[in-house]
Amino acid sequence: MSELSLQDVAVSYGRRVAVEPFSDTIAPGEWVGLIGPNGAGKSSLLRSIAGLVRHAGSIEVDGTRLGDLKDRERAQRVAYVPQEPLIPDDMTVTDYVLLGRTPYIGYWSSESKHDRDVVADTLERLRLGEFAPRLLGALSGGERQRVVLARALAQEAPILLLDEPTSALDIGHQQQALELVTELRHAQALTVISALHDLTLAGTYTDRLVMLHEGRVVASGSAADVLTAERLGEVYNVCVTVDVDPHDGAVIVVPRRGFPVESPTDA
Ligand SMILES: Nc1ncnc2c1ncn2[C@@H]1O[C@H](COP(=O)(O)OP(=O)(O)O)[C@@H](O)[C@H]1O
Ligand SMILES: [Mg+2]
Repeated sequence: MSELSLQDVAVSYGRRVAVEPFSDTIAPGEWVGLIGPNGAGKSSLLRSIAGLVRHAGSIEVDGTRLGDLKDRERAQRVAYVPQEPLIPDDMTVTDYVLLGRTPYIGYWSSESKHDRDVVADTLERLRLGEFAPRLLGALSGGERQRVVLARALAQEAPILLLDEPTSALDIGHQQQALELVTELRHAQALTVISALHDLTLAGTYTDRLVMLHEGRVVASGSAADVLTAERLGEVYNVCVTVDVDPHDGAVIVVPRRGFPVESPTDA
């Protein structure tokens, strides 16, 4: 299990500041959910950890600065699933998941038996074995999502970054995908950071939430601490009630009509 530590990580695009200096330590095996409205900086923060965007500050995995590593060394430590992965329709599932092995394959060599075994194992584990020879263009949304996750897991990195992994899925497939991440993170001792849109799901599946707003952290802690109706009202400009399930303590965010309806007799 690996610890991910961020010290004053900041991202700007030209003069536009997307992420203000951000510091946090994600404990080995922890799952942190990044929440916040569109444009809050969630993707920029994940992309900086993945090494895809220039950033200030320092990011370390188990004390090793990621900025000091070669791309392939970094990819052996951090796997990243973008918000909208590019999925070539005419590639087979196996070939796509093999791309996850790129950091282990030498420039002039091709994949080894071990690489092929890792891919086959990963596909089995994600119940995708029968899809191995299929073309990506011939998969459903939920199947494609699992294939994208399989590619990231085949990378065998201890840190997994997921950018809104469920946004294209229906409620059943959302639950399946998050259950799968739960199962895999325990089985493979992963440290996970994911941006999640659905606040109830974010609170249910993660160990801790970090809420961003306009590039700044506005709250960090348990779902019960972070997901208050008042804060959500301020940050998302939304009217919600927040209920706590008396049996398991789950925090449930329910959108409400924005304005109290006046009864005709009041007029
Ligand atoms: N490639 C980019 N170039 C310029 N501005 C960007 C780029 N990517 C994101 N931004 C801006 O940075 C801010 C944060 O965006 P993003 O990290 O995508 O937020 P989120 O994922 O929370 O919706 C937004 O204002 C967005 O417009
Ligand atoms: Mg985003």
